[in-house]
Amino acid sequence: MKELVISKIREGTVIDHIPAGRAILVLKILGINEKTKETVSMALNVTSKKMGKKDIVKVEGLFIKEEELNKIALIAPNATINLIKDYEIEKKFKVKLPEVVRGILRCPNRMCISNSREPISSIFYVRAEGDEVFAKCHYCGRKIKDLSQYLL
Ligand code: CTP
Ligand code: ZN
Repeated sequence: MKELVISKIREGTVIDHIPAGRAILVLKILGINEKTKETVSMALNVTSKKMGKKDIVKVEGLFIKEEELNKIALIAPNATINLIKDYEIEKKFKVKLPEVVRGILRCPNRMCISNSREPISSIFYVRAEGDEVFAKCHYCGRKIKDLSQYLL
């Protein structure tokens, strides 16, 4: 029998199959913080057949835009999105890695113009090689992997 760690929601966005330990980073990418009014629940280290352990995030009453959700792929390339209406799954899809991300990753090159006091937001070009995700700084060309370390 399937055990439910957090309740089903009536309406909103469920982000499933997040690698264990990364739910907090998912909240960060989505800009969910102490100012958020919606009900948010999170389950960490849930037993999963496919993944061993996984995290889940549920945001009630909010249909987060696909473009926003795809940013999650930077740190959770296999995350599944479920949009829920009247307790039913209206739409299910896998996040898709964006080609370019703005203002999400920090360039580790201290001389990079994106780290100067100028109001310049970072721009990175993203690509996947097998299970690994790489990003390259638009301004200085620096390449990074293990992107979870570079979230702004
Ligand atoms: N869910 C929810 N509220 C609902 C319906 C579903 O919170 N009213 C959540 C479930 O708890 C689960 C996710 O949405 O975390 C996907 O639900 P479902 O497709 O029923 O589960 P699985 O078949 O396990 O999904 P998958 O095939 O994507 O692994
Ligand atoms: Zn740079």
